[in-house]
Amino acid sequence: MAGAFPLQNATLHQLKVFEAVARHSSFTRAAEELFLTQPTVSMQVKQLSKTVGLPLFEQVGKKLFLTSAGKELYATCQDVFDRLSQFDIAIADLKGLKQGTLRIAVITTAKYVIPRILGPFCQRYPGIDISLTVTNHQYILDSLAANRDDLYIISQLPDDSEAQTHSFMENPLVVLAPRSHPLAQEKNIPLERIAEEPFIMREPGSGTRKTVQKLFDAHGLTMKVKLDLSSNEAIKQAIAGGMGISILSKHTLALEGLNNQLAVLDVEGFPIERQWYVVYPGGKQLSAIAQAFFDYLLNEGKQVAEQTAFQGLI
Ligand code: PGA
Repeated sequence: MAGAFPLQNATLHQLKVFEAVARHSSFTRAAEELFLTQPTVSMQVKQLSKTVGLPLFEQVGKKLFLTSAGKELYATCQDVFDRLSQFDIAIADLKGLKQGTLRIAVITTAKYVIPRILGPFCQRYPGIDISLTVTNHQYILDSLAANRDDLYIISQLPDDSEAQTHSFMENPLVVLAPRSHPLAQEKNIPLERIAEEPFIMREPGSGTRKTVQKLFDAHGLTMKVKLDLSSNEAIKQAIAGGMGISILSKHTLALEGLNNQLAVLDVEGFPIERQWYVVYPGGKQLSAIAQAFFDYLLNEGKQVAEQTAFQGLI
């Protein structure tokens, strides 16, 4: 029978590796995600391509593209993994809340709170495993559309009107500057004055950036973006290093507070009041575990976050 259906000789592991490379369009990022070395990833894809009998990727310049065979296989993988995860859900549901995996994807600011909220939940259901992805707003929207996780946490509602969205906690944005900044002592600073300062901004695709950009656009102001950084922590370091000011969620101060290095500026219209929302695609059948976490987050999440917060910053 060998050779009749070439994919019969492929392993699930190879398909998983291939799917990650295709999704990221990158061998390096797939290797990072799967905790494998890049040569291992390349080797698995090479073997898979041999089994299929056609190349799966092509490199044009620096970019990696799927070939036609690769596209077919990618769509097949999505079907296969979808079916397998439905099977996992069915089995976990049969076992009740005793075991299974809860997959959550959250925007970068939620990482300051969600792990603490998860603590007591995991004590309540000790048999379950958690997969927590921390990433930016755009990536969450992509994951939501691709139905990759059980629940998603974002601060701006998706355009998809079918999605189920529930707010569970405040996520305000504040203006941060070095403590020694001349504006640190001023009150009710106009936004126009802030626009004169060099800015450190989150990367395109970030929800924080989108909100700030919207505010400046609404006032007909242009930001002087001096530096793009994809990490809130790196932005705080750059502010402390005197590279400029920034606008970040107040929760990014949760770990160390303002300490001696950063000041929250008193700017007109700030803090920008926003919420965190827990979201899942309309029509999605939540697993028993996902449903339990969803209920816990809405009923107890805020309270647990406040109880476990450092220095009463939340
Ligand atoms: P971001 O989202 O990581 O995409 O900037 C964070 C937020 O909106 O709080």
